[in-house]
Amino acid sequence: MGRERVVILPQGNHLLSLMTILRDSSTDCKKFAETAEKVGDKIISAALDMLPPQPTHVACPTGVTYEGVQESTPVCGVAILRAGASLENALRRGYTGPLSFGKMLIQRDETTCLPTLYYAKFPPQIGSQKVLILEPMLATGGSACAAIDGLKQRGVLEENIIFVNVLASESGVETLLSRFPGISLVTATIDKDLTSNNIISPGLGDFGDRFYGTDG
Ligand code: URA
Repeated sequence: MGRERVVILPQGNHLLSLMTILRDSSTDCKKFAETAEKVGDKIISAALDMLPPQPTHVACPTGVTYEGVQESTPVCGVAILRAGASLENALRRGYTGPLSFGKMLIQRDETTCLPTLYYAKFPPQIGSQKVLILEPMLATGGSACAAIDGLKQRGVLEENIIFVNVLASESGVETLLSRFPGISLVTATIDKDLTSNNIISPGLGDFGDRFYGTDG
């Protein structure tokens, strides 16, 4: 893929074992949610590494001054409902700087078949914040593009958007980055295929249903 604004987590054994649990169709809701939180911590951490650090210094217990950094950039986590809300806790746990949250509900319109924004709520200052879009699954990229269009209409610059994702399809990543070349993207893994029903393959099924236990 070779784009500097795309971060794919190192495919180490720990991440691979977490992804194997998520992909396993016999994983129950409790285990799925616990494991998704662990992957969430890793992708949120990689996204937070992209924010500019502010130098600071502290006095260590030894009396030595340590020249460090602190997180001070205002960040807004915007969950694309429903599955995106599953990454909110990881962002709350991980970020030590000023943090707020927004929500977007995007669904496919049954007559036009186009992704349509049904609900959005953001902090008033979102246009001057770094925005982490929270969406665990990037399949065709339709909802993701609608979300970014909605954010740009509210004054958010592409350069201030980081799309935070657990599992993407190759074509979803291509679609998103060709429409919005200024954004950044962090993902745990990219799968090759999409089924004829736009399910990521091999994939992990419907993330929201498995996380919230609504798959029967
Ligand atoms: N959304 C999901 O939850 N799973 C997919 O495979 C594609 C979109």
